Amino acid sequence: MTGPAAELAGKVAVVTGGGSGIGLASCARLAADGFTVAVLDLQPAAAAGAAAMTLRCDVTDESSVATAITAVLGQLGGIDVLVNNAGITGSRQAARCHETPVAEWDKVQAVNVRGPFLCSRAVLPSMIARGSGHIITIASVAGLVAFPGRCAYTASKGAALMLTRSIAVDYAAAGIRANAVCPGMVYTPMTSWRLDQPQLRAEVEERIPFGRVAAPEEIADAVALLASGRLGYMTGHPLVVDGGMSAL
Ligand SMILES: NC(=O)c1ccc[n+]([C@@H]2O[C@H](COP(=O)([O-])OP(=O)(O)OC[C@H]3O[C@@H](n4cnc5c(N)ncnc54)[C@H](O)[C@@H]3O)[C@@H](O)[C@H]2O)c1
Repeated sequence: MTGPAAELAGKVAVVTGGGSGIGLASCARLAADGFTVAVLDLQPAAAAGAAAMTLRCDVTDESSVATAITAVLGQLGGIDVLVNNAGITGSRQAARCHETPVAEWDKVQAVNVRGPFLCSRAVLPSMIARGSGHIITIASVAGLVAFPGRCAYTASKGAALMLTRSIAVDYAAAGIRANAVCPGMVYTPMTSWRLDQPQLRAEVEERIPFGRVAAPEEIADAVALLASGRLGYMTGHPLVVDGGMSAL
């Protein structure tokens, strides 16, 4: 084994929501780079074949997260990288603040904010004990600029970015870094209902300077770059991968 795979052999990455889309592509890429990968997902049966361990876990549930992280630590010995990827958009219907059902707001914040909080909270003690670790959260350009009619999602991704910065600040002295990836529009099961309709796809692509949406593998590239340990002085950073969307 040579190159990055040799450098990263034996390192452990936990990917939440690794059974689909960006998480699935990230698992495959991290495994190819030499990581031993554990997937935590609501639907582990669909989880990445590249993963060494797949666990059923609801990231919104404190005891479910604690049980899964304890199992990973017990079987794989330590966690070098946590990828907080599990996320939902909420209803397909556009909704501004006063139109957003309270239950939908709560559900979106639970998965997109409480989830990364619970998973980070669960892995941090073992990272502190080892004096190293990297928490990578998949936020969105919707955390940097507001998406029209996506009140709950936009607010949740802004909060996920600030959680990232908060962890970066609080644990830098412990040798732990926290960064975020901010994808623009990516073709996954989350977005295919929209992108499979030519008219809606054209409307989306019109707002992207590259003129196309991303493939999940292009976001996995960013996850792999951060996880590689290169860019080692970077922490608290939102890495934007959006084909120029947020530059408009
Ligand atoms: N697809 C995009 O255009 C896009 C753009 C920006 C950001 N993102 C973000 O990227 C991440 C991945 O999105 P995707 O497009 O791959 O979505 P996806 O729907 O394809 O995959 C999401 C995965 O998360 C899992 N999941 C959902 N709720 C969970 C829970 N409570 N506990 C555990 N697992 C749960 C699902 O089972 C699924 O496997 C999300 O955080 C999303 O907000 C996506």
